[in-house]
Amino acid sequence: LKDQLIHNVHKQEQSHAHNKISVVGVGAVGMACAISILMKDLADELALVDVVEDKLRGEMLDLQHGSLFLRTPKIVSGKDYSVTAHSKLVIVTAGARQQEGESRLNLVQRNVNIFKFIIPNVVKYSPDCKLLIVSNPVDILTYVAWKISGFPKHRVIGSGCNLDSARFRHLMGERLGIHPLSCHGWIVGEHGDSSVPVWSGVNVAGVSLKALHPDMGTDADKEHWKEVHKQVVDRACME
Ligand SMILES: NC(=O)c1ccc[n+]([C@@H]2O[C@H](COP(=O)([O-])OP(=O)(O)OC[C@H]3O[C@@H](n4cnc5c(N)ncnc54)[C@H](O)[C@@H]3O)[C@@H](O)[C@H]2O)c1
Repeated sequence: LKDQLIHNVHKQEQSHAHNKISVVGVGAVGMACAISILMKDLADELALVDVVEDKLRGEMLDLQHGSLFLRTPKIVSGKDYSVTAHSKLVIVTAGARQQEGESRLNLVQRNVNIFKFIIPNVVKYSPDCKLLIVSNPVDILTYVAWKISGFPKHRVIGSGCNLDSARFRHLMGERLGIHPLSCHGWIVGEHGDSSVPVWSGVNVAGVSLKALHPDMGTDADKEHWKEVHKQVVDRACME
């Protein structure tokens, strides 16, 4: 039937995707990335990788069955990293979670061991890709991914404090009754506990809040803006 329906007038060439993105780890974060990529039409091919094969297949099928509403023609998955071949971007969200009573240091070691497997496989199939690391502790694992990959530093990016800054802007918007798009503020440093809010830069559409309210971010602040940063840190601890 297909041959009757479609006649090739020109020899079909096999070519790779031009904008392929792979996501390693299809947990809550990996699938949020996958759906965002699809909804924003960022890729012409999306590949998913995980070690839990039935879950991986289920997630891939759910996305494929939604193809009618999407514009990404190819969605693939597999435990084997060959599915990620020729990616432009590989997002790593795979990771062990902190177990009860487990130290952060021990978690780092477990995730470093996972990265020792993941990163060389990614590099093998997509030597020219950019790596975007999300797994925690994200700043340490980004450094580890850079070292293992041997990539130049501009091709290994950590999500850093992007989420912290986004959370801060949401909470700031909630306090002021203004949409977060008009609320600006940056959280810098290491993602999580030791992050630093830049109070001098906090502004609404260019109007500095520190200039209007000099006590902002200090212990003398009657409006307790420090609490906003504390809430950001507390959320990060739950990841
Ligand atoms: N950087 C940030 O701002 C930020 C925010 C939220 C979560 N995180 C981190 O992202 C990571 C994922 O979070 P989550 O909530 O999706 O966790 P999750 O437990 O829901 O998912 C983790 C996934 O990784 C997979 N996985 C484990 N080992 C693997 C391996 N060797 N190869 C491939 N896949 C593997 C698991 O099977 C699972 O599907 C965690 O490390 C979390 O702390 C970071």
